[in-house]
Amino acid sequence: MASSDPASLSGQAAIVTGASTGIGAACAVELARAGADVVVNYRGSPQEAEETVTAIEALGRRAVAVKADVSMEDDILRLFDEAEARLGPIDIVVSNAGIQKDAPLAEMSLDDWNAVIAVNLTGGFLVAREAVRRFRRKGLRESVSPALGKIVFDSSVHQVIPWAFRANYAASKGGLKLLMETVAQEVASEKIRVNAVGPGAIATAINAAERENGLDEMLKLIPYGRVGEPADIGRAVAWLVSDAADYITGQTLFIDGGMTLHPSFKGNG
Ligand code: BGC
Repeated sequence: MASSDPASLSGQAAIVTGASTGIGAACAVELARAGADVVVNYRGSPQEAEETVTAIEALGRRAVAVKADVSMEDDILRLFDEAEARLGPIDIVVSNAGIQKDAPLAEMSLDDWNAVIAVNLTGGFLVAREAVRRFRRKGLRESVSPALGKIVFDSSVHQVIPWAFRANYAASKGGLKLLMETVAQEVASEKIRVNAVGPGAIATAINAAERENGLDEMLKLIPYGRVGEPADIGRAVAWLVSDAADYITGQTLFIDGGMTLHPSFKGNG
């Protein structure tokens, strides 16, 4: 049922990729808290995906875990097929799955370059392409939302901040920025909204080692003075895909405690 609250996602179904842990899991839970039913995509651990499913069900929403590798075309088609079979037409897609494989440039293997680009950038392309196809097939349901569909990419502050020893990761996120903006431009007239979030340092497994060994160094990069929590991203994503944000498309919302504010200049330049 559609709600009169523009922040509500009631009556809508969502797919979140990479939703078994971390930011993806928080996005899935916050979408459910706002009223959506959610497909919890995962590649690795079915147990962790089931924990996300359980958390969503505890909020009174429907959830289903579907295994798929976002870098594989056939997997993405099957993910959407299973999603629609279980939850009906999909209104919201959060392309979140991402990996990091760090190395100095001269030592970076082609495998590590390709793996990061495949998941972070090609995965975003495959997910967004299928989302647009399915939104068109579904058709506009104005009683549910003025938008035909909503896509959010989970990018990074590193779509604008270069990052030594992570050429593959930074290139994938820089690529995502223009993928997002180009797709947004291409499909806006069909009432498909496409945006990104740009998280800074969020407490997840991807940066556990850096937080353990260099928390003070990390905090110097965060004017707001704390590492982010996955829910900081999840809440923003739930808002960005809601009708409260209906006039927003082609934007990256940085959620980074000020990391993109060039904190090293705060003394006096
Ligand atoms: C990376 C994290 C890092 C953060 C801030 C994210 O995109 O995945 O490892 O802590 O950016 O540098």
